[in-house]
Amino acid sequence: MRPVRKAILPVAGLGTRFLPATKATPKEMLPIIDKPLVQYAAEEAIDIGVTEIIFITSHSKRSIEDHFKKNEQLESSLKEKGKDSSIDLIHPKKFEDIKFSYINQSKQKGLGHAISLAEDLINEEDDAVAILLPDDLFISSSKSCLQTLSDLYEETNSSVIAINKVAKEELSSYGVIDARMISERVYELNGIVEKPNPEEAPSDLAVCGRYILTKSIFKSLNNIKRGVGGEYQLTDAIKDLIDIEKVTGSLYEGKKFDCGSKKGFVEATIAMALSNPDTKEDVLGFIDSIKN
Ligand code: G1P
Repeated sequence: MRPVRKAILPVAGLGTRFLPATKATPKEMLPIIDKPLVQYAAEEAIDIGVTEIIFITSHSKRSIEDHFKKNEQLESSLKEKGKDSSIDLIHPKKFEDIKFSYINQSKQKGLGHAISLAEDLINEEDDAVAILLPDDLFISSSKSCLQTLSDLYEETNSSVIAINKVAKEELSSYGVIDARMISERVYELNGIVEKPNPEEAPSDLAVCGRYILTKSIFKSLNNIKRGVGGEYQLTDAIKDLIDIEKVTGSLYEGKKFDCGSKKGFVEATIAMALSNPDTKEDVLGFIDSIKN
C-alpha cells in the first residue's frame, strides 16, 4: 500500500458546548495557548507526509480558510517592523507545498456523512486516507498519534484506528471496539459500536479521533443507514468495513484531551503550558499559589 497523502478534517460542527465563544468563532479556531486546535491536527497530518488537507466545513467557518491562506499584507508589515521570526508563525514553512481543499457540508447529518463528502477528491493514487477530528488533541513525547497509525498501516496493510482506555461510565460518548489483542497495543477488530450503553459495551477501548482508512470506507459509507442520534455514523461504516477487510486498533500511548468539553479544553491548555519550557515554571508556580 502507498503512503497516505490525503487527510480529511471535519470542521462543520456547531460547537454548541462552547457558546458564546463559538457564536462567531469556529470551535476549531479556539486556541490552546497560541495555536488554534485545527492547526495542531493539520500539522500532525503534514508531519506524516500528507500533502492535501480536505476540510469538511460550513459557510460560517470562513476564518478556517483564512487561517490556512497566506496573508501577504500581514507578512510585509511584520517584515517592515523587523519581526521576520513571526512570519513562520503565521505561515509555517511546512504549509508551503500543501494543498488545502474545502468542501461545504450544508446540513449536519453526522460524521459519516461529512467524511463521505470527500469521496470525489480521493482518486486512483490513494490507497487510504487519514481522518483527524480536531477536537481531540494529543500530546506525545515521542511519536504523534497519527504517526503511530501510519507506521502500523504500512506494517499491516490495513485500516488502523486509534483507541484509548476509557472509564465505564464514559463509554457511551464514544465508538467502542470489540477486538482481540494481537501484540502489545495492537488489536484486530471483530466489531465496533457507536455510543453503547456502558452495560452492553464490548470492551473499555474507545475510538479517539484519528483514523487511517482504506478507500473501501467510501463504499461502506454508501451502505449505511442513519444510526445513533439519527446521524450517519463513521463507526457504522467501519463496522461494515470489518466484514470485508482487516481493521487494526492501536492503543495510544500519550495523553489525549477531548477539547470539545470544557474540562478537556482546560486540561489541554495546562498540559500544553507545562510541556513548554518557556511557560512551565511560571505556570507551576501559579498553580501552587492558588492550590489552597
Ligand atoms: C466521534 C465518533 C466516535 C469517536 C469520537 C472520538 O464522536 O463518532 O466514534 O469515539 O468522535 O472523539 P463525537 O465526538 O462526534 O460524538
